[in-house]
Amino acid sequence: MTTATAHASVSRQQSAPLSTALSADAGNFEIRPLDAPLGAEVIGLDLSQPLSDADVVRIHRAHLDYHVVVFRDQQITPAQQIDFSRRFGPLQIHVLHQFQLPGHAEVLVVSNVVENGKPIGLGDAGHFWHSDLSYKEKPSLGSLLHARELPAEGGDTLFANMHLAWDTLPSALQRAVDGLHAEHTYLARYAELQQRSPWRPDLTPEQIAQVRPVLQPVVRTHPETGRKALFVSEHFTTRIVGLPEQESRDLLDQLFAHSVKPAHIYRHQWQPHDLVFWDNRSLLHLAAGCPPEQRRVMYRTTIEGDVPR
Ligand code: SIN
Repeated sequence: MTTATAHASVSRQQSAPLSTALSADAGNFEIRPLDAPLGAEVIGLDLSQPLSDADVVRIHRAHLDYHVVVFRDQQITPAQQIDFSRRFGPLQIHVLHQFQLPGHAEVLVVSNVVENGKPIGLGDAGHFWHSDLSYKEKPSLGSLLHARELPAEGGDTLFANMHLAWDTLPSALQRAVDGLHAEHTYLARYAELQQRSPWRPDLTPEQIAQVRPVLQPVVRTHPETGRKALFVSEHFTTRIVGLPEQESRDLLDQLFAHSVKPAHIYRHQWQPHDLVFWDNRSLLHLAAGCPPEQRRVMYRTTIEGDVPR
């Protein structure tokens, strides 16, 4: 994609007015690729300061090129996280309204902390590999996760590059799955998660109505880069349409196993106040978990994407 298209795409997705004020760091930050199959670190940018359009275009370009963009030591408020996220598109509100940050419905609290017998957030978010909101007609373009409190041990997040997964899929399998559709549903493993954790409330009829099953292409084309990616996950994909049940199960198992091979993975080890911005159209992710007695508090915002094709 050319720089001109990146500009056009960023402008198209604006849902809040662009600030033209330049931050002290404007234009001076560095984008350093990680030594991994995906990911880059942005060095020298303070997201508590206003960003110029040019800054946003560079970040957007890095997001497309590297799929995960890491901003270290960002002392930002929830409102600043929301404002920054909105520079890339409209935000989505998670169906589990129980875990919205009070006063900021756009922020989903991801946390294992229980206060006065009540979980303050979704403690098992990311327990299975998934792409955020793939169970919606318009899944998430990208998610931003801000580290507010970190455990002393564990708590990593793993990302798998689904373009690489497609590119390295044996050609017989590529031919077998290209053009097929699969069902994604939020409820696929909900009961299973509910049994093993206190974080899954019973859903109301209104919540269930918000997460009706949808069909998605098994192989999607990234709407901005044109690259193909596998788009199935062990969390939300239940079956491939038009195949006998066992054949569908076997094919999905092969695709899941291939997707998360070590050669496709970057493991993010969180540092205090990291903000990580990933592309759900290019990646799956997984929360590795941490000892339950150690507090982990993260704030997540999610940007709406296109209908996958
Ligand atoms: C998520 O799946 O969005 C949460 C990931 C994490 O907590 O590491």
